[in-house]
Amino acid sequence: MRDKIIKLKKDLDAIILAHNYQRAEVLDIADYVGDSFYLSQIAKKCKNKTIVFAGVHFMAESAKILSPEKEILLPVLDALCPLSDMVNIETLKEFKEKYSDYTFVCYINTSADVKALCNVVVTSSNAEKIISRIENDKIVFLPDKNLGEHIKNKFPNKKFIIWDGFCPTHQRIQVKHIISLKEKINNLVVLAHPECNSEVREVADFLGSTKEIIDFANKTDYKNYLIATEDGVIHTLKQNNPNKNFYVPGTTATCINMKKTTLEDIYNSLLYKKHSITVDEEISNLALKSLMKMIELAG
Ligand code: 13P
Repeated sequence: MRDKIIKLKKDLDAIILAHNYQRAEVLDIADYVGDSFYLSQIAKKCKNKTIVFAGVHFMAESAKILSPEKEILLPVLDALCPLSDMVNIETLKEFKEKYSDYTFVCYINTSADVKALCNVVVTSSNAEKIISRIENDKIVFLPDKNLGEHIKNKFPNKKFIIWDGFCPTHQRIQVKHIISLKEKINNLVVLAHPECNSEVREVADFLGSTKEIIDFANKTDYKNYLIATEDGVIHTLKQNNPNKNFYVPGTTATCINMKKTTLEDIYNSLLYKKHSITVDEEISNLALKSLMKMIELAG
């Protein structure tokens, strides 16, 4: 299957982008592996005609908005992000009327219509920088309440209204699992994603995006790390650091949507051009403004 994918990819001038949470065999065949921001930059910059996005729907949709001239393929159409579904458009419109003097900041884990109604998109790796560069001190942040609270704590002089969404996978990570591992393993360094709840964030030694977590473990010289995010990152961490130990808090941090895409799905995606992502032109143009604002402010 690997050889067939590599040949077809070449014939079609396609590349494979894989999010850090994908299956090990998908990460191993991808041309680029990374976090949401890194992959959106690659999607925009690359010269290939076709991109196979091994991730979830909002990632492929963002790539299509950033590069409408490219064919963006999502191998499994129902690889969705439950967090991105936690914004009701009518409620968002009501918020926009009620809080018309606020800047609306949305996480990249949102649909195109949400991005179209917001002023700027952020990811976990650039949210702090972007919000520091927004002049307005009134912010509506959506939809992840955990990332929102984490960012709010960095800006005591800004006023935040935070949506009530959360990632069900990160929500399952509990501080009691971390504490019990810390009691068993000496000098355990806790690396957590800001989508984790506040109790988990408080015991973390480092908070960052999936790429930042991987970079932190690559660059530091500790022996034992506890990884509080979706367990897909463990494959890359072990590959890069064979002499370090990586622990996960319990067995619950697996995102079923991120694990839906198999090598066979990627092969079929290239062979049958499925599933080609399309976005309504008007929505796409508005969402592009918010995504480009992210790229401008994160630069
Ligand atoms: P990253 O940008 O950190 O890769 O996060 C994406 C995501 O969906 C986390 O759950």
